[in-house]
Amino acid sequence: MPQPYLGNPDKGPSRIRIHHLQQAKDNGEKFAMLTAYDVMMAEIFDSAGIEILLVGDSAANTVIGYDSTLPITLEEMIVFTKAVANGAKRAMVVADLPFGSYEQSPAQAVETAVRLMKEGRAQAVKMEGTAQYAEHVRAMVLAGVPVIGHIGFTPQSEHALGGFRVQGRGDALDQMKADALALQDAGAFCILMEMVPSPAAAEIDSVLRVPTIGIGAGSSTTGQVLVWQDMLGLGERRTPRFVKKYADLRSVIGQAVSEYHQDVLSGSFPSEEYEFKE
Ligand code: KIV
Repeated sequence: MPQPYLGNPDKGPSRIRIHHLQQAKDNGEKFAMLTAYDVMMAEIFDSAGIEILLVGDSAANTVIGYDSTLPITLEEMIVFTKAVANGAKRAMVVADLPFGSYEQSPAQAVETAVRLMKEGRAQAVKMEGTAQYAEHVRAMVLAGVPVIGHIGFTPQSEHALGGFRVQGRGDALDQMKADALALQDAGAFCILMEMVPSPAAAEIDSVLRVPTIGIGAGSSTTGQVLVWQDMLGLGERRTPRFVKKYADLRSVIGQAVSEYHQDVLSGSFPSEEYEFKE
């Protein structure tokens, strides 16, 4: 197994830039993206060597508690992005364009992306959308904004897509391939595919020059992304089939908190060692 350049913080770049991700694709190497929404988790993920921290609009579900990503506002996204940027030293910080903040025109997309970069200090943005949004990508790239195109299942369109469904099956693959190519040609530096059958994702990856990131899209993409609360077992909600659970933080935290609760009720906390003496 070759030692990946990006996965080795001691040897790799001090800050992940778009050309490092392109190098990964060119060299047949992988990289990892993980969502983050606050400074402390950003610090932990950054120190662990994660290459990209995604301030996903999944914050609507995982932080605020909405049942979809639609209600989150640009102002809320800016706050989460600032927090993550404060914790990330090496990882690239990418922020989602939230629902309703970019669709109307390329100019609206530029305005939103600039706010996420200027006020949130993101280094790139991610936009959900098909080839119909290629002009939006072109305008953002022209304004100096690196863009990741998000295709396949796009949660902001869950109602239009008829719920959480795998995309790109059968004939739909040709359209998805055309979307990916149009976004790449408009200047997207990376294409993220969500809930796409592995053979379809592999085919799309093979026709693209730019790196790809997958979530529920098999192993052929250059990178992978997961929502951190899902992969660390913090959430209560049932995790999708494509999520590997690396820890069970919900029970670890629950246990620690009930221990603290019992200690307080029994008077054993604070004991002498935690008290100020004159
Ligand atoms: O918002 C998010 O977390 C995302 C990932 C699921 C890709 O878009």
